[in-house]
Amino acid sequence: MIAISGLTKSFQNGKQVLRGVDLDIQTGESIAVIGESGCGKSVLLKHIIGLLHPDAGSVVVDGKSVHTLAEADLYALRTRFGFLFQSAALFDSMTVFENIALGMVENTSLGAAEMERVVEEKLEMVGLPGTGKLKPAELSGGMRKRVGLARALATNPEYLLYDEPTTGLDPVMSNQIDALIADITSRLNVTSIIVTHDLFSVYAIAHRVALLHDGRTYFQGTPDDLRASQDPIIRAFLSRYETENSR
Ligand SMILES: Nc1ncnc2c1ncn2[C@@H]1O[C@H](COP(=O)(O)OP(=O)(O)OP(=O)(O)O)[C@@H](O)[C@H]1O
Ligand SMILES: [Mg+2]
Repeated sequence: MIAISGLTKSFQNGKQVLRGVDLDIQTGESIAVIGESGCGKSVLLKHIIGLLHPDAGSVVVDGKSVHTLAEADLYALRTRFGFLFQSAALFDSMTVFENIALGMVENTSLGAAEMERVVEEKLEMVGLPGTGKLKPAELSGGMRKRVGLARALATNPEYLLYDEPTTGLDPVMSNQIDALIADITSRLNVTSIIVTHDLFSVYAIAHRVALLHDGRTYFQGTPDDLRASQDPIIRAFLSRYETENSR
């Protein structure tokens, strides 16, 4: 379980992005985190894996307080996480195989044959068998996201963090990625945090949804609760995003 409490963060320009975020994420659930562009969703995810340090507040993962861990313990904790970055963040000079194997090379002592087996297994899982020799430049946007997902899965993480998994994809590809995330979540029994401003993804894959607004967790509940809410801020958010992202 991940317990986020009172998380506060400003950047050098003085703008306070997170103003006391409280959020509990239960083991095995899929939670979507939504909110306006720039409200701090990516910043929140980066705090969970200790890439950013808060001004106040804490993130506790299975009893370990992320921001007080020694560096070695933080690295160990990170190996339990898979992270699909907003831009897929593949290394263009490396092949698909090398991109996916990177985490295993750094964090495990697997031999070459075993690594090849794992990479192919993950590529099959994301629907891209046999593509290990390709370079990222040869892939479509949707394929890049899939490779990013295969890389996130490579070390068999307990927690999967997705930052905008469907942004920039066409509706057909977005539906495929949603189906893939739902399938992976149920098959692998992982805990997923999906940052998105795609409401279709929320309704398709999330057990629960949290809306960030004004630096805080403004709403938490099921997707049905969200949809039924009469709160004016939630209604305004939903109507804006429903018209912006139509599939
Ligand atoms: N490393 C950083 N240094 C300075 N400011 C930052 C940094 N990272 C994020 N910010 C600022 O924090 C705010 C929140 O950024 P964040 O990337 O979390 O937004 P977001 O909710 O993920 O938006 P989007 O939906 O567009 O991805 C923005 O104003 C951004 O400029
Ligand atoms: Mg973001």
